[in-house]
Amino acid sequence: MNAQCIMLCSGKGGTGKSTVSVLLGASLARLGHKVLLIELDSGLRSVDIIAGVYGRTVYDIEDVLCGRCEGGKAIVSSPLYTGLSVISAPYEGGEVLAAPLARLVTAMRPYFDFILLDTAAGMGAPFTAADRIADKALLVLTPDPVALRDGKIVADRLLASAREQSAVRLVMNRVTRESFGKRAAVADLDECIDTVGAQLLAVIPESKPLQLAGANGSVPPAADPAVIAGQAMAKRLCGQRVPLTY
Ligand SMILES: Nc1ncnc2c1ncn2[C@@H]1O[C@H](COP(=O)(O)OP(=O)(O)OP(=O)(O)O)[C@@H](O)[C@H]1O
Ligand SMILES: [Mg+2]
Repeated sequence: MNAQCIMLCSGKGGTGKSTVSVLLGASLARLGHKVLLIELDSGLRSVDIIAGVYGRTVYDIEDVLCGRCEGGKAIVSSPLYTGLSVISAPYEGGEVLAAPLARLVTAMRPYFDFILLDTAAGMGAPFTAADRIADKALLVLTPDPVALRDGKIVADRLLASAREQSAVRLVMNRVTRESFGKRAAVADLDECIDTVGAQLLAVIPESKPLQLAGANGSVPPAADPAVIAGQAMAKRLCGQRVPLTY
């Protein structure tokens, strides 16, 4: 194994990075891949609840990056999704250090197929540390002009670090029928793609069951459209051709 490292970022906060990180990790794991999800949002953790590892964590990513424990000791298997493992963010924020994160990812690559880095909003230390090591970046945005404008700034930054255009992909999250059209602030998906300047990877619909499952630390129903869209996103990342539906 030689894991592909994918960072999830947004610019604007609360667009669904952590929710989509777990959805993607669970979907890749369901395809038979071994996935490590690292949450880099110090002080504002949420992946631990969404992936069901809350209360099972002894060491967190800060312990690893500061050298208080080895990477392997901070890895917790998700009890909800077989094949998905998590390193949680700390409850209280320290700075995410780029060089130790790069060393951790390099050390973990042989043991996983995918390493997902769930970054924090903005372009602070978690973003720059992930940007330094990630092979690909997914911009998780909601269909509103502020998220799209911030997304464009982030996309430009990602592309400035010697990445190919195809390594930065757009995931439109929380999409509803009302998201687009004459009465909406955004005309259509094409406007999202054109504003951000990144190819579309997936459209994840707004889903109450997905939101509730994230809040409760439970598994969303397999038939939920957001879960189906998550599976399609994972397959596309693995090079399969799956039509976009939304
Ligand atoms: N597709 C969706 N349908 C419904 N609710 C969603 C969806 N995606 C995310 N949410 C909800 O939106 C809120 C923010 O999600 P989340 O914490 O994943 O965002 P984030 O980008 O990681 O936030 P932060 O910038 O604070 O790290 C949560 O309540 C989550 O359940
Ligand atoms: Mg988050």
